[in-house]
Amino acid sequence: MSTTILGIESSCDDTSAAVITDGILRSNVIASQKVHEQFGGVVPELASRAHQQNILPVVSEALRQAGVSASDLDAIAFTRGPGLLGSLLVGTSFAKGMAIGLDIPTVDVNHLHGHVLSHFIKETEDQEVPEFPFLCLLISGGNSQIILVRSPFDMEILGSTIDDAAGEAFDKCAKVMGLPYPGGPHIDRLATEGNPEAFKFAKPHIPDLDYSFSGLKTSFLYTIRDNMKLDPDFVEHHKADLAASLQKTIIDILLDKLAKAAKQTKAKAIAIGGGVSANSGVRNAIEDFCRRHSIKAWIPKRSFTTDNAAMVAIAGYFKYQAGDFCSLDMPPYSKVEV
Ligand code: KG4
Repeated sequence: MSTTILGIESSCDDTSAAVITDGILRSNVIASQKVHEQFGGVVPELASRAHQQNILPVVSEALRQAGVSASDLDAIAFTRGPGLLGSLLVGTSFAKGMAIGLDIPTVDVNHLHGHVLSHFIKETEDQEVPEFPFLCLLISGGNSQIILVRSPFDMEILGSTIDDAAGEAFDKCAKVMGLPYPGGPHIDRLATEGNPEAFKFAKPHIPDLDYSFSGLKTSFLYTIRDNMKLDPDFVEHHKADLAASLQKTIIDILLDKLAKAAKQTKAKAIAIGGGVSANSGVRNAIEDFCRRHSIKAWIPKRSFTTDNAAMVAIAGYFKYQAGDFCSLDMPPYSKVEV
């Protein structure tokens, strides 16, 4: 008997639905919301309204592309949190309503678990997936964590950001440079043309495996402010060098703690996940680090790094197999640790 799961993701500004049968991806449809660009960040109320408009067509398209009908589904997995409450409510209510109509169970998924488990999305039968345990560097707009993953259900956070996340550092510094939101991909593109040694920004000195990015943000801001006194067009004249130096500093900070964690846990494999793992510099640096230390690197496909329902469906598939279902009175939650 095969198992077909519909995954629904609506935690922030992407409405996504995906279908997975026995761990193999059959469709993954994502509707991104452009409406936030003009505001320089996600506007929660606009996000939830856009989810309401998008969810039905996105789910229908995911079923159509997968070649299945609703009656073929065994369960519906949905992101229950963390994220924006209004946005989560749309996906959660839709998933529950559809499951009641079809008389099938729902499976609630922690969005962060989804990012970690995205490495188990198979596009072909013989695709290799990580073996447990492995270390996961989860870097997104809201989180920067080093996680020891012992099983799909047993994840221990070894380190976390104490202030901003890596994605926030990219986005906030990009905003200071006048780049559109989200700034991460723009910094990534500009960095390829700049000199990563051109500017030196502050690096944190905090104990253990925790991260901090707020000092870097302040030092980036001061560098720009001080130099603009001499050259009002400083940012325009140096944008590639600023981007390359910023990206290098973020990578150095990420790698410093990851290397410590790898040593402490004698890691044999390291995976990365979350929006910032789409960054070319981050991907190259992790691959290079793993090669030098004979560690297996798991670098996700770019389409599985940012918010997507395929990762929700695969996390839901693991929980479905374990018989771990969600009761209909479980509400969404905005904040949670892994
Ligand atoms: O995981 P994600 O899609 O969403 C949440 O955190 O909810 O991550 C979004 C973050 C944003 O901060 C965005 O700027 C960053 O991922 N990002 C990147 C790149 N692509 C997305 N940062 C650096 N380089 C990229 N290529």
